[in-house]
Amino acid sequence: MRDLFEATERGSLQPEPRSLAETRRLAAACTRCDLYRNATQTVFGEGPISARIMLVGEQPGDKEDIAGRPFVGPAGQVLDRALDAAGIERKAIFLTNGVKHFKNEPRGRKRLHKRPDPGEIDICRWWLDLERKFVHPAVIVALGATAIRSVTGRSATVSSLRGRPTGLPDGGTLIATIHPSYLLRMPDRSLADAEFGHFVADLKLAVRTAEGDRAA
Ligand code: URA
Repeated sequence: MRDLFEATERGSLQPEPRSLAETRRLAAACTRCDLYRNATQTVFGEGPISARIMLVGEQPGDKEDIAGRPFVGPAGQVLDRALDAAGIERKAIFLTNGVKHFKNEPRGRKRLHKRPDPGEIDICRWWLDLERKFVHPAVIVALGATAIRSVTGRSATVSSLRGRPTGLPDGGTLIATIHPSYLLRMPDRSLADAEFGHFVADLKLAVRTAEGDRAA
């Protein structure tokens, strides 16, 4: 509890950025929680400020931490295949993570992924909220439970929200789906293929929702 309090105190010194570019610059020096200590750099979101759809992942992995870009590792390759199948151009959407630093545990020469805890997710919402404020997407696709908490501030399972577009207080719509790394962990090929199809259907739902919003 003490750590969280101190981290929040550190964060409270932060001035509110006035643009997405300024947000990115300030996020690069983020020390709001301790995750920056074991990470190479902040991995900020990327994509056009005019994007209608924002995809929110959990946190950068090893490859993203090194490259400084979201979804460039194995989960990113699955995501790219799914975006392709859903007819979504990666460069047309805003791609980001709920947590901007790679949480990991050094093990010899490897760095093992560690799931961010609720306190870390909530502290990092400062950055996601600013990305949302400046991009103002019609639809936010939350990839997995960490992203759901980052977007809504509450814990909920993917299965409790999946398939039901949910209104957000800022006027946008939340679509919850699985994290692409879940597909990588599935041992049964045919189940993984079926789940991939479900994931693509969720992404198509995001497109239809964003289009409906534009028509309204
Ligand atoms: N997993 C995520 O949630 N985000 C990334 O950027 C990469 C892997």
